[in-house]
Amino acid sequence: MPTIFDNLKLGNLTLPNRIIMAPLTRMRSKQPGNIPWELNATYYAQRASAGFILTEATQVSQQGQGYPGTPGIHSKEQVQGWKLVTDAVHKNGGHIFLQLWHVGRISHSSHQPNNSLPVAPSAIAAKNSGTFTADWKPTAILTPRALEASELPGIIQDYVNAAKNAKDAGFDGVEVHMANGYLLDEFLQDGSNKRTDEFGGSIQNRVKFPMQVLDAVINVFGKDRVGVRLSPYGTFNDMSDSNPIELFTHVIDQLNQRQIAFLDMIEPRATSAGGGDDVNENAPSTTKLFRKKFKGIFISAGGYKTEDAKKAIETDEVDAVAFGRIFIANPDLPKRIKNNAPLNPYNRATFYGGNEKGYTDYPALS
Ligand code: PHB
Repeated sequence: MPTIFDNLKLGNLTLPNRIIMAPLTRMRSKQPGNIPWELNATYYAQRASAGFILTEATQVSQQGQGYPGTPGIHSKEQVQGWKLVTDAVHKNGGHIFLQLWHVGRISHSSHQPNNSLPVAPSAIAAKNSGTFTADWKPTAILTPRALEASELPGIIQDYVNAAKNAKDAGFDGVEVHMANGYLLDEFLQDGSNKRTDEFGGSIQNRVKFPMQVLDAVINVFGKDRVGVRLSPYGTFNDMSDSNPIELFTHVIDQLNQRQIAFLDMIEPRATSAGGGDDVNENAPSTTKLFRKKFKGIFISAGGYKTEDAKKAIETDEVDAVAFGRIFIANPDLPKRIKNNAPLNPYNRATFYGGNEKGYTDYPALS
């Protein structure tokens, strides 16, 4: 029987446990330039005892940014900044993968080059979603501009540059973000993709661009160092699809063909992708629906309590569990789980933006 403290082989890496740090937006990069810095290095290094760390979502280009303060991986300064982070994590014996992100329609002109409209597969706004302008004012999401097919190779190139930069910055691998209503998820699901060209319509067509991106990233890092995040049935950012089972079964078939290292899937009971504490216990379980279809390491995320996570691993429902909120508040989470120690409570007010408060000042066990 596997336990949450067993090693896990991920490609040629051996992870020390199955307690993964989930990707978490914290909006604390150095300004101007969205540059990771010492504060971020301290935060990640404190959490290096995770099985491995998935970084906060990181924009592959200026066009890919949708919120203030989120880090990028497209400038020299950002690569140097991330190097501080990977060095600090490696020094503490950890492993760290960078999450590659393009927000697509979930943006605002103030983040875009030349104050342009955000881009998406189709000109459909996400309803009931919001972001913050570059000067941190809450704002509704704009109706995006539909991308021309001729622009897609340029976006693939942005992912390639970002993956190369991630390699230069010392990351052990990358996760391609295809979840939560951002660009690649917008292509996958037919609520946001109404294209009539070869990238819209059939499931095969909708999956094409995300797989072109994935192939380009695998070319840089190798399949053993690349994972994908998916969020079937997620409603965050106004997402929907008419046939999620068929769509995501096809996506998983495509991932199996490429033999990627891991699939990181979000349980839709966590309805707001971490943006709130609401739980929909009636949501379908994506672990139950999809785990058996995927041939590699399956990581599940979304509102796990530690006891539930242990059980899910022991009963082979999942290979590993990613923790978000409780990893924010407990830098030594694996040790606490091992010792049955109490968990520090998290403070949602300090999740997004700010300084070391609620970021690097959560205490470890003495
Ligand atoms: C967010 O910044 O709110 C955010 C980012 C990435 C996600 C989900 C939420 O996947």
